This record gives sequence, C-alpha cells and structure tokens, in this order.
Amino acid sequence: MSKFLALFEGDTFQSPPLWFMRQAGRSLPEYREVRKKCTTFLDLCYSPELAAKVTLQPIDRFGFDAAILFSDILVIPDALGQHVSFEDGKGPRLSPLSLSSFQRTLSFSHFFEKLAPVYETIRLVKAKTSPLIGFSGSPWTLALYMLEGEGTRDFGKAKQVAFSEEATFSTFLTFLTEAISLHLIEQVRAGADAIQLFDSWAGHCPAAYVQKWILEPTKAIVTALRKEFPTLPLIGFPKGIGANILSYGRDVGVSAVSLDAGVPLGWASENLPKSLILQGNLDPLVLVAGGEPLKRGIESIHQGMKGRPYIFNLGHGVLPQTPLTHLEECVKLVRALA
Ligand code: CP3
Repeated sequence: MSKFLALFEGDTFQSPPLWFMRQAGRSLPEYREVRKKCTTFLDLCYSPELAAKVTLQPIDRFGFDAAILFSDILVIPDALGQHVSFEDGKGPRLSPLSLSSFQRTLSFSHFFEKLAPVYETIRLVKAKTSPLIGFSGSPWTLALYMLEGEGTRDFGKAKQVAFSEEATFSTFLTFLTEAISLHLIEQVRAGADAIQLFDSWAGHCPAAYVQKWILEPTKAIVTALRKEFPTLPLIGFPKGIGANILSYGRDVGVSAVSLDAGVPLGWASENLPKSLILQGNLDPLVLVAGGEPLKRGIESIHQGMKGRPYIFNLGHGVLPQTPLTHLEECVKLVRALA
C-alpha cells in the first residue's frame, strides 16, 4: 500500500508522504504543451484523456506520493447551469447569479451528464496510478465565487448579499452541500482513493458565522460521504480560518486538516486530537525562494509535526513561477528526513 494511504490506516513514517496542492498545471512546461490543445481551460477539464495525462505529469516527473485529479472547483457551478469561463491571466468569470432567484437559475438537470468526463478522467488515471485524490470546493468558497462572479480582494458583493439575505443564503449553502456531496460520491465510486475539500476563502468568513456557514455544511458533506464510504480518507483545507481550525479539526469529522502557512504548528499539534492527520504548511513562496529558506522551512515543519502523523505539503498551491529544481530539491530533502 502507498505511504499516503497507509498513514490514514494508522501507520507512521520517519519521512512523511508528500504531495503539493496545485501540483498539476501552471508550473509545468509539459502541462502548458497539453493546455495548447484545448481552446478553453474548461475544455481541458472535460477532456478525460488529456486531463488524465496532466494529472499524471507531476507524478512522473517528481514521484510525489499522491496524484490529484486535474479539474477545478468551478465545474460545480458550471454543471449547475451558471456559465463559467477562464480568461488567460485574469482568473474565473461567472455569469451573474441573483441569490434570491438561485432556485430558478440553477438545476441538477444536466449535472451528471456535464460532470461525466470528470469521472471518466478518474477511471483513466486509476488504470495507471494510485493513490488519487479527488476534490471539490466547499459550499462557502463556491458560494463566494458564484455570487461575486469572479475572484476579488474581499468578495464584498457576495458577503454583503449573504448578510442581507441570511435565510436564503443558508438555503443556498444547503443546495451546494447537496451538489458537492453528489459530485464527491461519484468521484469515489469512479475510483478516487481520498478526497480533499478546498475551503480556500474560509478566511473571509467572520468568526461569528463560522459555525453556520463553514462547520455545519462541511460536517453534512463528511456525513454524506462517510455513510457510503465509512473509512474514506478525507482532508479539509479551511484556509485562513485562524483559531477556528480547532473546532474544524475536532468537530466536522475529517481525517486530516490541511494547514495554511499562518498556523503555528506547535499550537495546532498540541490542541488538535492526536489521531487527526495534519497536512502542510510550507509557504509557497519559500519554495519559490529555495536554498537555505527552503531547508529551514522543511526542518521546522518536521520539528513542529513531531510525534504525530503528517503529510508534507504547502500552505497553499504551487505558484506558477516556482523553479522546477526547487520542487526536486524539496522532494529530496523531505525524503531524507529522519
Ligand atoms: O494540481 C491540482 O491541484 C489539480 C488541479 C486543480 C486546479 N484547480 C487546476 C487549475 C485544483 C485542485 C484546483 C482547485 C481550485 N480552483 C481552487 C482551490 C485551491 C486554491 O488554489 O485555493 C480554486 C480557488 C480554484 C479556482 C480557480 N481556478 C482560479 C482562481 C483559477 C485562476 C487562477 C489560477 O490559479 O491559475 C483557476 C484556474 C486553474 N485551475 C488553472 C489550473 C491548472 C490555471 C488554468 C491555466 O492557466 O491553464
């Protein structure tokens, strides 16, 4: 069994399993070659042969301990009928969505038909490698993109409507919870060995709303998945959630939490359940810098995680400008940890 999956079964290792968020894509020249074959980014996400090829590229090049499905968190709004596009260098653009009329705009009528190529990608990857991590965005992070229409500095438009129409916003989160659970269940049925839930903008949720807007919807997804797959490895990544990482780690039922670079490891390690696997949390810019800062960063994570099961990863995704030699160096240094 792979080191990555063995960790979830209770095995411990001197040198931790490693993979990187956003390891497939942007930073790899072989990805950019494949990307040219498709007009749009979403076309690539919905082309099983090409998406499978891109999923495998970082495994072939670096020998990471897990592959992550090549797809995007925004395939869910797309499959629900909100138009999604990616303009080069500008990030995602979504067609306007009014919270008060979301039930008239969005529907499940083409959901599985639209997402079928994603499940086919999983089957193709699994014929070649294991383990494979499937994923989705969380209800909160997806809701922000869907109501804002793009990624902005503070998601001000989306948050304002959430506060003003709180009851409808809760109904919207419940609707997304259902969509996400269905998408994740299908990913596992297709062969995904583990799931990561990306709550990339958890840091934009005010503490007073974390219970309602983050913890409860996340717990509902975990419960839906565990009902069907009781031992499924589940990683939650509530980026920027601050001290609420403790309630997230204790209460929602995930097997692992991924920590952003701002979380002090000693504190997290002391206060989170001993059985909970931790993942993270090297600053992606330390990997860009390389050299001594990289060596010190790795060593300090290893010390901070001492005595508990952990997965080496970044505090957020690999940046496009990351030198490939630094990724290689990082793998070498992590493999040499004792
Ligand atoms: O390697 C992997 O992690 C697998 C593939 C993956 C992508 N997106 C491919 C992608 C994963 C896991 C994601 C998740 C994702 N998508 C998140 C959560 C993780 C995070 O970084 O916080 C978010 C917020 C998105 C939404 C999204 N997709 C944005 C904001 C952008 C544009 C900016 C950017 O990051 O490049 C994307 C596009 C995107 N998703 C690209 C890739 C490879 C770049 C498209 C291209 O340039 O070809």
